[in-house]
Amino acid sequence: MSDLREKYLTAIAEAKDEAAIETLRVQAVGKKGEISLKMRELGKMSPEERQEAGPRLNALKDEINSALAARKAALADAALDERLRAEWLDVTLPARPRRQGTIHPVSQVTEEVTAIFADMGFAVAEGPQVESDWYNFDALNIPGHHPARAEMDTFYMHRAEGDDRPPHVLRTHTSPVQIRAMQAQGAPIRVIAPGRVYRADYDQTHTPMFHQVEGLAIDRDISMANLKWVLEEFVKAFFEVDHVDLRFRASHFPFTEPSAEVDIRCSWEGGTLKVGEGDDWLEILGSGMVHPRVLEAGHIDPAEWQGFAFGMGIDRIAMLKYGIPDLRAFFDSDLRWLRHYGFAALDVPTLHGGLSR
Ligand code: PHE
Repeated sequence: MSDLREKYLTAIAEAKDEAAIETLRVQAVGKKGEISLKMRELGKMSPEERQEAGPRLNALKDEINSALAARKAALADAALDERLRAEWLDVTLPARPRRQGTIHPVSQVTEEVTAIFADMGFAVAEGPQVESDWYNFDALNIPGHHPARAEMDTFYMHRAEGDDRPPHVLRTHTSPVQIRAMQAQGAPIRVIAPGRVYRADYDQTHTPMFHQVEGLAIDRDISMANLKWVLEEFVKAFFEVDHVDLRFRASHFPFTEPSAEVDIRCSWEGGTLKVGEGDDWLEILGSGMVHPRVLEAGHIDPAEWQGFAFGMGIDRIAMLKYGIPDLRAFFDSDLRWLRHYGFAALDVPTLHGGLSR
């Protein structure tokens, strides 16, 4: 019996893995294991022999069982040590900040503009970026031969071979949303339409994709005076100043009559822009009274209704407000630029809480 003890204790001490331990367990104390067989023989012994051999066998079985358990635990510890060596992690390193992203200035300014106009009763309207040439041009009183079509550096979509309907375009301005909103809602109506627009142009202040916000207000007796008040309120709120001077310059757009470009008084003293003071003027938008033909295209009767519209470059006013020199950087996805000019993700602009804190 002491041979058996010696044999198994040595084998267990040398076992290299769990599978080897299991094999030894079956061989020694399994149902047909050596020790189990010996225990079965107890029945054939004389009572005296049995009284001597029984406890010894039980003790041996216990000893082997605890040796198996101990070796198994030791192997598990060794495996864990090995894993810890291979997969170490320095828990003393500083944790990653949870919020890494920032809100892009274009998104921020779009939210600011929306908050300001929402406060004046303007809802948000949308339209497709791939637009029919009818919505982008004809409905806005820009017929096929009109020079404005060429001036806009339009991107044309491809039509299938043999399909000679006029091609769709990437919308060159947000003005087609005027037509879509009028058709969908009728009059009276008060909407803004922020979104992407496209023109084939590229330099420090032009990118082939940029952003505009359209404004449209139609009612029974709306005049240029209402337009001027709305724009003054907007500019004061947007640039966060108490006083502004607006200058309306006569201009021409096919879809408004009369038309005006709007400048704001500003100063560039010391290289930084200050709105509301100084002797310089800064053009910020195009506007006018909606042309009767445009109302008709929107299924609104020009004998009964009239209104104003304006269109403003979101990227441009973002550059002005936040002192960003080059438009092209807006769309480079440079993380350093985004961290510098981006806005905290949870600071939603509101008029009461402050637009740009
Ligand atoms: N759509 C014009 C542009 O892109 C801006 C504009 C909109 C002018 C509405 C007048 C009225 O330049």
